[in-house]
Amino acid sequence: MSRLIVVGAQWGDEGKGKIVDLLAEKFDIVARYQGGHNAGHTVEIGQKRFILQLVPSGILRPQKIVVIGNGAVVDPAALLQEIELLEQNGVSVWGRLFLSNRAHLILPYHRILEKESEDSPFQQKIGTTARGIGPAYEDKGGRRGIRIGDLLDANQFCCLVEMAVREKQAVLRARGRDLDLDPVQLADDYLEMGRRLLPLIADTSALLNREMDAGRSVLFEGAQGTMLDVDHGTYPYVTSSNATAGGACTGLGIAPTRIRGIVGVSKAYTTRVGNGPFPTEDNGEPGKLLRERGQEYGAVTRRSRRCGWMDLPVLRYSATLNGLDSLIVTKLDVLDTLEEIPVGVGYECEGTRLEEIPPQAEALAKVRPIYRNFPGWKQSTFGLTRYADLPQRARAYLEFIQDHMGIEISLISTGPEREQTIVLAGTRLQQLLPTPLFPS
Ligand code: GDP
Ligand code: IMO
Ligand code: MG
Repeated sequence: MSRLIVVGAQWGDEGKGKIVDLLAEKFDIVARYQGGHNAGHTVEIGQKRFILQLVPSGILRPQKIVVIGNGAVVDPAALLQEIELLEQNGVSVWGRLFLSNRAHLILPYHRILEKESEDSPFQQKIGTTARGIGPAYEDKGGRRGIRIGDLLDANQFCCLVEMAVREKQAVLRARGRDLDLDPVQLADDYLEMGRRLLPLIADTSALLNREMDAGRSVLFEGAQGTMLDVDHGTYPYVTSSNATAGGACTGLGIAPTRIRGIVGVSKAYTTRVGNGPFPTEDNGEPGKLLRERGQEYGAVTRRSRRCGWMDLPVLRYSATLNGLDSLIVTKLDVLDTLEEIPVGVGYECEGTRLEEIPPQAEALAKVRPIYRNFPGWKQSTFGLTRYADLPQRARAYLEFIQDHMGIEISLISTGPEREQTIVLAGTRLQQLLPTPLFPS
């Protein structure tokens, strides 16, 4: 039975939402394994544009079951708001969405602590999404987190909140700050939200394993991207969870032997939001053009995304870490008007060629990409659905990436909508799906 992980191969915003929505048609269940409402996964269907933050993108396919796993951190107010918005737009969520009782809660003090850390002269400024993600994962790692399942026991929950608020007050006081939060009111508010979420709360690891035993197919939806992974990304300029494929197992309580395939999503160029090294960043006119043509503004925070060129060392690193079976390239159409398209094929630092991504952010910030320039095709690929219809130069660009990586490209996205996709025949991806997508 098919069990496929979709992972971001760059710094997030690769178009995972569109791809998961497209592939979800074939699967019974779509499960999210990490992150929180820092994610913004855009799905465009006709006139409607959905930005999913916590709810897996599979929700837009009627009948599908979707799961938020134990590896996610959940702000219940944000989740309820997202559910409400989906329901208002005609998407039924109740009865189809399940939320792990082991997922950790984001509480209001997490956002306050994050702001304090981002403003502090003694800590690196990461440029986070300010959703309290990092501090919530800190509490999880520190074994003082409060979990979704704790909402089910009101007395115990009140004690946990009381303890947590007192602890955070002490921490902030020591830094000369105040924390004006009433633990009784806070616990009451969360318990009320817990009552509303009650029908969703489940042991999702048991649920998923049971469903897989019964032969159900599962698509695992990654959030963020490989280079934002807390262990393997550009630390400390990362998010606080394991966005790489391994995170799917720990973040959902499923065994690695259950996974049948892994597909990476990459833009035809590169973007990143927030601080940290970005070797192929282009701060000139071409970078601006990518931003405007690609509408590269954060789906959640509306911040401008930093833009640059395809970085093959990053993609190779991502392929190794995730064990990619197949590569999906999105936003090819954004490159349509360029005269010349540089592709980073390697790095150089102080006269030495580097073969691997240096583990220190400071070292990665110093590398100079070695570019190979490709002539632009200067005609529209927007919305194309057949490989043969792509300009010869666009095909040469994609084939160079594929050959260099030694990994097939199985889908090419040429616009934000489901239909604006080139499906290649005879690929490994097709074999990894429950039934093949119709090749165009
Ligand atoms: P995600 O976080 O990986 O799901 O990606 P985001 O939704 O944050 O950002 C991707 C953006 O690109 C969204 O606005 C999508 O609607 C849009 N998009 C996805 N694929 C394509 C494509 O092939 N062409 C164009 N022009 N836009 C695309
Ligand atoms: P999707 O799932 C792009 C970035 C933030 C910041 C760093 C840490 O839509 O691809 P955090 O709030 O997580 O502590 O911020 O990670 N970041 C993302 N960048 N796409 C995302 O999600 C991101 N989620 C977090 O900009 O640099
Ligand atoms: Mg996004």
